[in-house]
Amino acid sequence: MKEKLKKIVENATNEAKTIKTENDYLNIKSKYLGKKSELFELIKSIKDMIVEDKKKYGPLLNKIKIELDSIFTKYYDAVINADEKVTFDPTLPVSNDKGSLHPVTIIAKEITDVLKNIGFMVLEGPEMENDYYNFSALNVAENHPARDMQDTYWLDNGLLLRTHTSPVQVRAMEKYGAPIKMCAPGRVYRNEDLDASHENTFHQVEGMVIDKDISISNVIYVMKGMLKEVFKQDVEVRLRPGFFPFVEPGFELDCSCTICGGKGCTTCKYTGWIELCPCGMIHPDVLKTSGIDPDIYSGFAFGLGLTRLAMMKYKISDIRALNSGDLRFLEQFNVR
Ligand code: PHE
Repeated sequence: MKEKLKKIVENATNEAKTIKTENDYLNIKSKYLGKKSELFELIKSIKDMIVEDKKKYGPLLNKIKIELDSIFTKYYDAVINADEKVTFDPTLPVSNDKGSLHPVTIIAKEITDVLKNIGFMVLEGPEMENDYYNFSALNVAENHPARDMQDTYWLDNGLLLRTHTSPVQVRAMEKYGAPIKMCAPGRVYRNEDLDASHENTFHQVEGMVIDKDISISNVIYVMKGMLKEVFKQDVEVRLRPGFFPFVEPGFELDCSCTICGGKGCTTCKYTGWIELCPCGMIHPDVLKTSGIDPDIYSGFAFGLGLTRLAMMKYKISDIRALNSGDLRFLEQFNVR
């Protein structure tokens, strides 16, 4: 018996070394461990053995069975790994047909390209901001509800995650003074409960123009041009009054619904209009705080919701898809 077992193990081990494919692996497993194998016959015969032999060979046969199985797996694993080494060569150039831009990145680029063409600087600001730039310098009073813990993510180090891109306005005014034309696309954070239309992390693009004789008609002109480019069609805009501490007067800018062309549909809730972008004339106090004389200069600012715009343009019904990282979703935007 011992001799027989020794021979089986020897043959099996030698043969395991020849495993090159999955088929080899399956064949060898069936040959040495399958129902028709010598080992299986021996295991079957245990029940007819005398008690002493049962005690001796039972555990031994079982041990050999496990051992052989692990030897086969070991050699097969080596084959698989070797295969991976050959097929995954990190020095090869990246395949051309993989990867695409995120829909928000696409929109951000389209918008900043339009603005760049009419002379806007494209700026960035930190996502980790301080109270001054995010609130105080923007005329947001100490007790304004926007500072409430509900809306703002405060960090242990006393800073916060910016709740809008407007702090970049302040940084730009400080750094470049007036006149200035700037925009700042970027990620912003709010402590929101998530659902199909609310995310705690989304994107805006801030725009600001300061010069002599700037008026709200400049906002309308810039916005119309920008939206025409994004939606590849003429859109109408309208302004409704809106309150933001850093603009006076402040507005909500609506654009004619790009889905139904203003006739009324579910997207625009049958109003023909979509609320798109808060804007307004920069409050004189905000200009003054950042060292610009409001008696000489005036300016407008807008805070366009990039995420909302991407959802409209690509007819995305659930905002959470955008941050999901789900390739099935992302691969649909085959733009590079
Ligand atoms: N920062 C404002 C917000 O996110 C939007 C805004 C920007 C309003 C510029 C007016 C002017 O809510």
